Amino acid sequence: MNISYSEKGDMSALPLVLIHAFPLNRRMWTRQMDGLSDKLRTLAPDLPGFGETPVHVDDQSMAAYVKKLKQFLDGKGIYKAVFAGCSMGGYVLFEFWRTYPDTMSGMILCDTRAEADTEETKANRMKSIEDVREKGIGPLAETMIPKLLSSETVSSREELVSEVREIILSNTTEGVANALAAMAERPDSTDTLNIIDIPTLLIAGKEDIITPPEVAENMQTKMKNARVEIIPGAGHLSPIERPELVNQSILFYPSWVIGS
Ligand code: MLT
Repeated sequence: MNISYSEKGDMSALPLVLIHAFPLNRRMWTRQMDGLSDKLRTLAPDLPGFGETPVHVDDQSMAAYVKKLKQFLDGKGIYKAVFAGCSMGGYVLFEFWRTYPDTMSGMILCDTRAEADTEETKANRMKSIEDVREKGIGPLAETMIPKLLSSETVSSREELVSEVREIILSNTTEGVANALAAMAERPDSTDTLNIIDIPTLLIAGKEDIITPPEVAENMQTKMKNARVEIIPGAGHLSPIERPELVNQSILFYPSWVIGS
């Protein structure tokens, strides 16, 4: 099992493990690694079939991703960390919490939701699996970019749009197909919200049309120790679109006591 990853920062600092969204990879966290690693030990793995982590046919569930992530962290000697997950990364963290709560000292849930897929969304995922196998990732990238980024980002930040497209296209077709199956089959995590008792920061792009800010606000009401930060000028990929605001929210979240 080889998980590819990037790592930056002081090895003795608090580890922050960054789990990417669909259909991106660890490169979506470059700005967090650059902006946070003077205070934190940042690690960003590629989930199986994304970026440089090899694809495996069995990796079609959140549980399979979690198993590999735990093996990866054990291999790095990391037994306690703050975890950040963007969208699908958040789905992974709910499963991680259910399986290895003692490994998590804090959670950052970014542009994500606790509910499982509706029947309609599941059917769309199955159709997308057929489409990516038949036509590759290109058409999926073009359909998704206007949903992932705010309309302002799409119309005025050409370089950022190209960067996101390039990240999406660098993944494997089978990795993307596996993730679509894993998301369709993921369990509902609404009840998990009630049992998460570690400090949690919910980040939501103000212009996010996939998981609008109300989704994060609603999650907060079900959680014991959560705070919401709405990020203006960002869509679904707030860590890429407004990294300075996202990094500030992470660093100044009082419960981490970072830099104190
Ligand atoms: C993501 O950004 O990870 C996806 O939008 C998640 C999803 O499709 O449910």
